[in-house]
Amino acid sequence: MSANLTVTLTVNGREIARTAGGHLTLLRWLRDVAGVTDPKYGCGEGICGSCTVLVDEVQVSSCLVLAAQVDGATVTTAAGLTGPDGTLNPLQQAFHKHHAAQCGFCTPGMLMAAAAMLADGRTRTRAEIRQGLHGNLCRCTGYGPIVDAIEATQLGARQHGSHGLGTGQPGARQQGAGW
Ligand code: FES
Ligand code: FES
Repeated sequence: MSANLTVTLTVNGREIARTAGGHLTLLRWLRDVAGVTDPKYGCGEGICGSCTVLVDEVQVSSCLVLAAQVDGATVTTAAGLTGPDGTLNPLQQAFHKHHAAQCGFCTPGMLMAAAAMLADGRTRTRAEIRQGLHGNLCRCTGYGPIVDAIEATQLGARQHGSHGLGTGQPGARQQGAGW
């Protein structure tokens, strides 16, 4: 057991400071210490993507990073895509419309991977969308509805001249493979 450390993060616009074991991953810190439970624990090894969040707008598997390593950062989870009044953003609405979630366990990570992709405003082919999701596993949907939802979001964004996120949080920024 490592010494306790105080970590302060701004999570979905809310500053949270907690003192906990310095060995805790960001995922455990969020879920078990801060009560932010939308990032999910799937594999704990960086394989499934269910724990995906944005740290200072960069896509991260939160099971692979210590909370203490990102002290002071801004973290966005899937809940942070929702507007302050609870309105789903266009990406979330598209997931709903296209039935891109079944059991929903992968969905918070899928949404964040998709948000990271869409943030640069570039229109991707379906193959590129699938490539962008390569670090996020889903055992239910066959991926087709998820790709449909992301494709529809980028089409809507083109029509409205935005990146299609419409979040209360800063947009994500593409940072290379693994998003
Ligand atoms: S729980 Fe982090 S990648 Fe699977
Ligand atoms: S909807 Fe069940 S794992 Fe993706």
